[in-house]
Amino acid sequence: MRPSLSTLLTGIAALAALLVTAPTAHAADPPLRDLAAAKGKAIGTAVTGSKLTGTYGDIAAGEFNWLTPGNAMKWGSVEPTRGNFNWTEADQIVAFAEAHDQDVRGHTLVWHSQNPSWLTNGTWTPAQLGTLMNDHIALEVGRYKGRLAAWDVVNEPFNEDGTYRQTVWYNGLGADYIAQALTAARAADPAARLYINDYNVEGVNAKSTALYNLVRDLKARGVPIDGVGLQAHLILGQVPSTLQQNIQRFADLGVDVAITELDIRMQLPSTAAKLAQQRTEYDAVVKACVAVTRCTGVTVWGFTDSDSWIPDTFPGQGAATPYDENYAPKPAYYGIVTALGGTVTEPPVPAGCSAAYSVPNQWNTGFTGNVTISCAAGSSLSSWRVTWTFGAGQQVGQAWNATCTQTGAAVSCANASWNGGVPSGGSVSFGFNGTWTGSNPLPTVTLG
Ligand code: G3I
Repeated sequence: MRPSLSTLLTGIAALAALLVTAPTAHAADPPLRDLAAAKGKAIGTAVTGSKLTGTYGDIAAGEFNWLTPGNAMKWGSVEPTRGNFNWTEADQIVAFAEAHDQDVRGHTLVWHSQNPSWLTNGTWTPAQLGTLMNDHIALEVGRYKGRLAAWDVVNEPFNEDGTYRQTVWYNGLGADYIAQALTAARAADPAARLYINDYNVEGVNAKSTALYNLVRDLKARGVPIDGVGLQAHLILGQVPSTLQQNIQRFADLGVDVAITELDIRMQLPSTAAKLAQQRTEYDAVVKACVAVTRCTGVTVWGFTDSDSWIPDTFPGQGAATPYDENYAPKPAYYGIVTALGGTVTEPPVPAGCSAAYSVPNQWNTGFTGNVTISCAAGSSLSSWRVTWTFGAGQQVGQAWNATCTQTGAAVSCANASWNGGVPSGGSVSFGFNGTWTGSNPLPTVTLG
């Protein structure tokens, strides 16, 4: 990671005013890239070159200090037929980054996917394969020599159980293809930081341990390896609890770590509760990187839900990125803000709106709770969340017309997809069944 001096200075100045405007159509002030730079971290996004104008271009340039071409630098993109090269989109993204004082992560040189068909359909001897791989690296890395901060040299080399993935490279050259690729990349651009990048290696598991052992062995052999990329294509509710510990163990090997392709997908439709949970999880992932000195930063795999690979690949899932399809920042965006040390001022609840808690029914160890959110004439809400803390060990069970979670004594209930709106002079209610023993005092509820 090498943020420019001007980026650092902007970030330091920005720290003087870490007040962030409320989650409306417009994003944070200061932007993410200034918050990140003040912490010496990268905040990046994958981009599509053809979209880098208008609002998409403004956000890509204004909020991020690193860019990764989502597809433009893959072998199938740059050499679709043998000897015929198309660098248009890759060149465009690099030029855009330079114009906006951004670093570029090259992605990716040696992979089993998105290779040109002439390569995958060909029959090659090991010697021919080695030459093809080395020449490709020399050409592509050489083209951008001195201009790219990092390269994902080898992408996705492992299976889930930690064995090597059977790819054209592994099958032809053996596991040493990885060392050969890194060595070729170093020769082509000594200044670029060289990474191995993979998915499902965010927590401590068999696959990440295989990657760990590989990096340790490469370091011991003197093979040029500078960093490990944890892609972090995550699922809502399944952020690995060992993320920071895993980042730290790689850092302790003497390499950098980057979170390279973060997204957190959910089953659609999204709800206020799911988006709130996603915010917490974005915050947690970015915080795990911020906490480890050698974690260089976090890149999101597309910053808007309109430019995400998830809906095509996982039908029925989506809403995985920090901005919605209309480029409005989502709660997840504010999770990144808080993890980077910014402060989010929540939109104030209108004075005319309030929540009231009652227990319409109670029996030996059970009860029904009811909460009504009301707005006086002239006040309204478009979404709501009601929180309280139980005083006598009560426990929320099944809820209706809201999504409720309880952690210890603290309960948080958010509107369902159909009842976020509370009109002027109107009200909405939700209910739940709970359990109690001894006593069942009414908690004080907060509308937020
Ligand atoms: O460009 C063609 C277009 O001409 C055609 O009309 C269209 C029809 O399907 O396809 C377009 O190509 C698509 C390409 O993205 C560009 O949008 C491919 O079908 C599609 O398969 C390809 O998906 C990419 C995916 O890698 C392939 O594995 C995603 O955009 C890209 O975000 C994704 O990125 C990978 C990382 O490189 C490695 N880690 C996992 C990550 C997610 O799969």
